[in-house]
This record gives sequence, C-alpha cells and structure tokens, in this order.
Amino acid sequence: MPEAYERYLVPVLFRPFAEDLARRAAVLRPRTVLELAAGTGALTSRLVVALPGAEVVATDLNEAMVAFGGDRVPSASWRQADAQRLPFADGVFDLVVCQFGAMFFPDKPGAFAEVRRVLAPEGRFLFNTWGPVESHAFDFAVQAAAERAFPADPPDFLPSLPHGYHDPEQVSADLATAGLELEWHQPLVLDGTAESAAAVATGFLTGTPLRAAVEARGGRPDDPALQAFFAEEMTDRLGSGQVTAPMAAQLFRARPANA
Ligand SMILES: C[S@@+](CC[C@H](N)C(=O)[O-])C[C@H]1O[C@@H](n2cnc3c(N)ncnc32)[C@H](O)[C@@H]1O
Repeated sequence: MPEAYERYLVPVLFRPFAEDLARRAAVLRPRTVLELAAGTGALTSRLVVALPGAEVVATDLNEAMVAFGGDRVPSASWRQADAQRLPFADGVFDLVVCQFGAMFFPDKPGAFAEVRRVLAPEGRFLFNTWGPVESHAFDFAVQAAAERAFPADPPDFLPSLPHGYHDPEQVSADLATAGLELEWHQPLVLDGTAESAAAVATGFLTGTPLRAAVEARGGRPDDPALQAFFAEEMTDRLGSGQVTAPMAAQLFRARPANA
C-alpha cells in the first residue's frame, strides 16, 4: 500500500496541504516537532526543509508506512507509534503536527490527551482534517464510482472515516476533554492536479483502505476491469487527461488549556 499511496495519491491530494502546514509550522519556530500519522512522509519531507534546525520525530501506526517514510525522509527520526499511546516523555515537544490523521484515531479525546501530555507548556498542536466528501472533487468522484460498482452495499469508508471529522464544535469539544484549547480553526480549499482521473482511481483501489472494502464485497482491486470501471466513472465527472480540481479541508491549532 505505501508505494501506491505515494505514487498516485500523495502528489495530488496530500502535497498541497503539506506545503501549507509546513509553512504554518515554521512560523512557530519549534525546536522539537512530533508528527503523528505521518504515512509515507508527505508532510515530514516539507517539515525538515521548512525547519532546518529542528529535531523532527515522525510516527505512524502502520509499520510499512514507517519503513517507507524512513527511507524517503531519513533526516527525520521515524518510530512506529499509536497516537493514542505515545512512547514519549511528558512535555518534550514544542509542536505536535498531524496531516489528515486525526479522523482515523478511534479515541480522539484519548489521542488528544496524549498530545497534551507530550507538549511543552507553551507548545502547539497543529493539524488538518478533510471537509465533507462532497467538498472534495476527487474523493467524491471515487465515492460515486464505488456506489455504482457496489449498488447493493456501497462502501462507506470515504464519507465516514477520512471525511467524517470536520465539525469545529466537535473537534473543539474533543480537544477540551483532553485539556487542549482550540486557538483557531479555518477552512482551506486547495486544488489538486492529477495526471488523470484513472491514476487517482488506481491509487484509491490499491493504496487505501478502500482496497479492503472492495475485497469484502467480492471485488478484486487489481482487476483491470474494475479499475477501468472506476476510471471511466471518474473521468465522466472530472474530465479526461490531466485534471485539476478543488479539495476542502479544515485547519485547527490548539494549545494546552490554562497555559
Ligand atoms: C490518510 S493517511 C495520512 C498520512 C500522511 N499524514 C499524509 O499526509 O500523507 C492516514 C495515516 O494515519 C495512520 N493512522 C491511522 N490510525 C492511526 C493511529 N491510531 N495512530 C497513528 N497513526 C494512525 C495510517 O497508518 C495512515 O498512515
């Protein structure tokens, strides 16, 4: 999965937001940075450039992602870690940062409490989440194709997980439960550019948990006919050839409450 994720999805969906988040991280001038759910290092690679003097520790739950990211961005320290149980001492990071990962933490207040624990008193927690699936042209096209491919039992991975955590009131309440205060939140829409809708279809079918959802419904993600079906459906919506389309996210910055 890391190879397909990196090849087809990172340049289109994740790199534009990584550049934005790294710029916002640099403004804070942290000396020690912990990245959660770092995946293959889309944000990590931008952080090490934007923060040349800082120590950057990148973590992810998935061992394969950590191995891949460690090869790709060796100037960061990589470690396997569940965001809900961080293997770090109290108060050691000036900044905790997370790109499109918080939606996947089953216990969000629990993960945020771990962020609170490892943050220095004046530290900051900077993260983003996707907006509703309808506000993301690529993911909405994938979801529409999945609904046409499996009409009796459409996979709900995209709307319920990556696109299921964007309400600022909910996020603020979860942060407060963990002893963090939301400083600000803001919507951000950036364009992604893909070599083709078909390439994005391949990326989703082979490089994300949609793969398991397709297999659970008796489909084979590597099946050229299934990939062609997704590609055709998505091309109908997004257009043929190189495609540029909008993607909506929410940005959040928090700090220890009463700091
Ligand atoms: C959509 S990817 C984002 C990866 C990366 N931040 C990027 O921008 O490309 C979500 C990542 O969250 C990780 N993840 C899911 N649950 C996690 C958890 N409980 N703790 C840490 N990482 C987790 C997954 O392994 C995956 O790499």
